[in-house]
Amino acid sequence: MCGIVGYVGERQAAPILLEGLQKLEYRGYDSAGVAVFDGGILHVVKRKGRVRELEFARALKGNCGVGHTRWATHGAPSEKNAHPHTYGKFTLVHNGIIENAHILREECLSRGEKFSSETDSEVVAHLISACYEGDFAAAVCRAAERLQGSFALAVLSSDFPDTIVCARMHSPLVVGRERGGLFVASDVPAIAGEGVEIFSLADGEFAELHAGEIKFFDANLRPAPPHPVEYSSKEDTPALCGFRHFMRKEMSEIPSVLKNCSADFLKNSQYMQFFAALSGAERIQIVACGTAYHAGLCAAHAFEKFCRVPCEVSVASEYRYRDPIVPPHTVCFAVSQSGETADTLAAAQIAKERGAFLAAVTNVAYSSLTRISDAVLQTNAGREVAVAATKSFNAQLMLLYSVAAHLAEKKGREVPPLSQIPAAAERALEISEEVRGWTAHFLSAKSVFFLGRGADYFTALEGSLKLKEITYLPSEGYPAGELKHGTLALIEKNTPLVAVVTQKPLAEKTMNAVHEAYARGAKIFLVTCFEELCARKEVFASLLLPACPEEFSPAVAVIPLQALAYYVALARGNDPDKPRNLAKSVTVE
Ligand code: M6R
Repeated sequence: MCGIVGYVGERQAAPILLEGLQKLEYRGYDSAGVAVFDGGILHVVKRKGRVRELEFARALKGNCGVGHTRWATHGAPSEKNAHPHTYGKFTLVHNGIIENAHILREECLSRGEKFSSETDSEVVAHLISACYEGDFAAAVCRAAERLQGSFALAVLSSDFPDTIVCARMHSPLVVGRERGGLFVASDVPAIAGEGVEIFSLADGEFAELHAGEIKFFDANLRPAPPHPVEYSSKEDTPALCGFRHFMRKEMSEIPSVLKNCSADFLKNSQYMQFFAALSGAERIQIVACGTAYHAGLCAAHAFEKFCRVPCEVSVASEYRYRDPIVPPHTVCFAVSQSGETADTLAAAQIAKERGAFLAAVTNVAYSSLTRISDAVLQTNAGREVAVAATKSFNAQLMLLYSVAAHLAEKKGREVPPLSQIPAAAERALEISEEVRGWTAHFLSAKSVFFLGRGADYFTALEGSLKLKEITYLPSEGYPAGELKHGTLALIEKNTPLVAVVTQKPLAEKTMNAVHEAYARGAKIFLVTCFEELCARKEVFASLLLPACPEEFSPAVAVIPLQALAYYVALARGNDPDKPRNLAKSVTVE
């Protein structure tokens, strides 16, 4: 989940590396470093903290270098553990986890080699050194044979100060070419630009960047064909457009994203093939992580209710290791904003190998997930920069609801109109500003609860995740009826409890749980579309949502909860776009 960037060509490398790292910072931001060859001399600089701490390195001279922004796995976030790592003639940046690093490290120590960091990545530099007999690419290739786990590598050698060798296994890596220069990066936006052609590396492939030419190799160092990546010029860094944070800006885009999403999905060229598989499906499986998993829960509710097709939703990291049963005629949706989440990719691959038709629901057209899927349903939410997912969640919902509605119609079942959702979301966004007035009651809470039933429970889960992620307040999303089976013991005087009530048949049932919590001292914040509930004596503050078909309400009801998390994070002095310990794209297990 780190960000890698490299450049060799006619331009100065350092500014390119720093700009690339800024664009990749969503992948990790606990330390950063660059290495640049000036003639034959390599300059390496590293800092703990954000990429901006490296700004002074812009002055480094030289036309070949690599850079890295880190999300720590092995070894604490520190300058010592920051990349690039050097051993002997080799300096490298790495994304991924080397699972046999401890064994390889022991081998190196037994040869008397010294380590300067606690990272698994440094081991790779030692290994390349041990494999080196004068051929740079061959040494990287031989070292890679011994690595277990995942890696994207960009390697420099003091014997070849105008060459970068790259390798990929289960971690994203792309290379690029412009007139007079070559690039490598973890992700397209870091190097996208006017006149830049981009190619992806497949697992087990290598690339050598030298003298304006990219050579691709397979695992046996035989020439491999290039895999061009189509990208739009919009992949460049999005601007804040007057907003203070990307999270707030991305929330403001929700209504238009919902409109585009519902209008676009039927135009997808692969949709007919996908829909044929879905029409014959006897079972649906959904695999995803985090917010995308919550979108999966909401979608499963709609598929079962409207289409009467059994639908099972799994956290991808559990699915992949539980020897899942994939019956014939299964359609598996892998839901992932980035399309790069390692657990989702692995779960999707397993479902496919076991016979499922694999449909990717993703926001990134050129992602690893799209490459392994039988059909790609694009959410078209536009780039999401903030670590906390907002508009991508609403878009995943809209797309999956649209698919469920289409299937239900095909089966002759009635479905409420989806067309109300964008306007309801627009209104929800406007009134969400009211939750600013709630923040004082959350600021120093020991814990916060979000309750709901049916579809409201999934909204509660997502509201709770958002709050935890950017405010660092302990929080739980809970099914309202379960509270009395243990968790009620945690309620104390003034414990904030957010109740989501949009499901008519379940409203009074949820209010029972609210009452039980209120009786034990909870401070009740109600998010509902039923005006009469707002006046109940147990309600401390309420927000009245616009009307929307209740089965689809998470796409609207989540908006004030996203806003609540945002404003509480601000009030606690946190950066909502870059919460501690997290990264946007989770490409390691
Ligand atoms: O890119 P993905 O949708 O696969 O990411 C999955 C999760 O890592 C992601 O949704 C995460 O939970 C968000 N940061 C939550 O806001």
